[in-house]
Amino acid sequence: MNLDFLNRYKEVVDRALQVYFNETFIAPRLLEAIRYSLLAGGKRVRPALAFAASEAVGGTLEDALPPACALEMIHTYSLIHDDLPAMDDDDLRRGRLTNHKVFGDAMAILAGDALLTQAFHYLTKPDWKIPAERKIEVLRIIAHGSGIDGMVAGQVLDLENEGKIFDEQTLERIHTHKTGKLLLASVLAGGKAGGAEGLNFEKLMAYGKSIGLAFQIADDVLDLTATTEQLGKDSKSDLKKKKATYPSLLGIEKSRQKAKALLEEALEAILPFGPKGDPLALLARYIVERHA
Ligand code: IPE
Ligand code: IPE
Ligand code: MG
Ligand code: MG
Ligand code: MG
Repeated sequence: MNLDFLNRYKEVVDRALQVYFNETFIAPRLLEAIRYSLLAGGKRVRPALAFAASEAVGGTLEDALPPACALEMIHTYSLIHDDLPAMDDDDLRRGRLTNHKVFGDAMAILAGDALLTQAFHYLTKPDWKIPAERKIEVLRIIAHGSGIDGMVAGQVLDLENEGKIFDEQTLERIHTHKTGKLLLASVLAGGKAGGAEGLNFEKLMAYGKSIGLAFQIADDVLDLTATTEQLGKDSKSDLKKKKATYPSLLGIEKSRQKAKALLEEALEAILPFGPKGDPLALLARYIVERHA
C-alpha cells in the first residue's frame, strides 16, 4: 500500500507538535515525559483523518491543524494511562518502554493530565484562521469524543468486562466508545474545521462510525497475529488481561470479515465526495488492512 499521503500528513503534525512542546515549561521533567511518548512515532491516524476530512469538504490542512494536534495529544494521553498498572499494565509502547516504566506512575498520570489539558489550550490558538463559531463546534466534538460519553466511558466498560462473559452488543459498545468515538471525533472535527455542513457532515459521520469500530477490530486481531516487534507494543496483551475482544468472541476470520464489511460501508458513505474523498478512502483501507 502506498502510504505517501499518510507520510505527508504525519510530517505536518509531527513538526507542529515538536515546535509546541519545545518551549520552556516550568517542570522540565514533565516536558521530558510528554515528549517521550508524544514524539515516539505513532501512526498519527487521528490527525490524518482530520486532515483528510477537511480536504474532502474543500478545506485545507491548515484549517485542520489545531484539531489534528489536539487529537494526537488526547490520544497519546489515553495510551499513557491505558498502559498503567491499574489499567492494561503494559511495558512497551511505540517501540519503547511505557511512560510509567521510565518516569514512574505519578509522572505518567500527570503527563497524561497535561496532554489532555494542553490539547484544549492548543485549540484556542489565536492564529487559527477559521470562523469562531466553527471553533466552538470543533471543541465540542473533541470534548464529546474524549469524555464521559466517549473514550473514557469506553475504557471503563473495557475494564469492567475483563474476564467476564460478554455478548456482541456489549463488545460493540466497548469498542465504539474506547476507540471509535475519538476516531469519529477526528473525522468530524477535521471536517467541521474545513467547513463541513449538512449532508457532508452526515456522510463524514457515517464514515467515521464505521472506521472507528473497524480500527479496534483490527487492533484486536493484530494483538493476536502480529509480533511485539511489528506492533511496538506487547502482543497478546488482551489474552493476559482476558479482555473482551472480537477474536475472542467470533474468532479471527469472522472478525476480519466484520472489519471488511465496515470498510465497505465507510467507502460507500464517502462516494459522493468524488476524488476529494480519496485520502479518506485510502485511510479506511489502511486502518483495516494494516499489518501493525
Ligand atoms: C492504539 O492506537 C490504541 C487504540 C485505540 C487501539 P494506535 O494504533 O493509533 O496507536 P499509535 O498512535 O499508532 O501508537
Ligand atoms: C485502548 O485499547 C484504547 C484507548 C483508549 C487507549 P487497547 O488497550 O486495545 O489499546 P492498545 O492495544 O493497548 O494499544
Ligand atoms: Mg486498554
Ligand atoms: Mg492497552
Ligand atoms: Mg489493543
